[in-house]
Amino acid sequence: MIMNKRLLIGLLTACTVTWASEHALGHDIKPASPWTSSSWSKTLADMPKGDSLKGEKLHRYGLCITCHGAKGIAPSRNAPSLAGNTVIYTYKTLMDYQQGRRAEGSGKSEVMRAATQPMSKQDMADLAAYYAQQTLPEKQLTTNIPQKIDRLVRKGDSSRLLVPCASCHGAHGEGNGITPALAGQTPDYFIRTMYAYKQGLRTNDVNEGMSQFAHELTDAEIQALADYYATLSAQ
Ligand code: HEC
Ligand code: HEC
Repeated sequence: MIMNKRLLIGLLTACTVTWASEHALGHDIKPASPWTSSSWSKTLADMPKGDSLKGEKLHRYGLCITCHGAKGIAPSRNAPSLAGNTVIYTYKTLMDYQQGRRAEGSGKSEVMRAATQPMSKQDMADLAAYYAQQTLPEKQLTTNIPQKIDRLVRKGDSSRLLVPCASCHGAHGEGNGITPALAGQTPDYFIRTMYAYKQGLRTNDVNEGMSQFAHELTDAEIQALADYYATLSAQ
């Protein structure tokens, strides 16, 4: 097994951080400047081609598996599932943790800040390639979804200038390019990150591509949308 020593040290730090204190780190984070369309285009053009076999090794031996589960399906309500997400989204979000753009203030992102410190761009691309090859999580709940939530997802709400979620995230929540997959996502994580956008704590999106919609959603809608996506069957 070939293991990148720096990566292992970073990951051990990541785990220690979780056990010690989720709030202990983070005071020294200097966020990189927000993405602009042009800085993002350049980063995307420079993205290395990922090797999913190397990504799988990093996932297994780099301890990602302990929180994100075998094949990237999270075993707990706390961590997000990574399986089946798009290459571009995973690559970008790992970079956002590394560069301090994702520091959501809940303390939960500190572990990822630490885990990504030793990663090269190639490591991030390899991990992204591996997760993209896994199947999206199975649907988790069987609650009845209110009709108005189904409508919000498919038709949007013009009175609040809300574009349908499905127009970006896909009819089956499968994601597309920079837009993440949502089908089967852990509801607790979904809700937490949605509040982070809504409260202006998650600002890593390019040109407020997501947060502009989160501001308009009510608490009840956020809860129901998390249930909706958890019940959605990926196709
Ligand atoms: C100690 C637990 C833990 C370990 C180890 C860990 N993660 Fe995470 N990871 C989390 C948590 C918790 C979050 C959600 C953080 C937040 O709310 O911002 C997360 C978020 C992520 C995300 C963002 C998902 C999304 O939908 O935006 C990615 C990608 C990710 N982790 C990849 C990795 C990789 C790759 C490794 C191994 C190198 C790893 N994680 C190790 C707990 C962990
Ligand atoms: C115009 C396109 C667009 C629309 C419409 C949109 N989103 Fe998003 N969404 C995005 C993008 C792009 C991201 C990733 C932003 C980033 O880089 O962090 C995202 C991120 C998210 C995330 C975070 C996922 C994760 O793994 O961390 C959730 C949850 C989410 N969107 C839910 C929704 C819901 C629910 C709706 C409808 C109310 C919606 N989105 C409407 C583009 C969109």
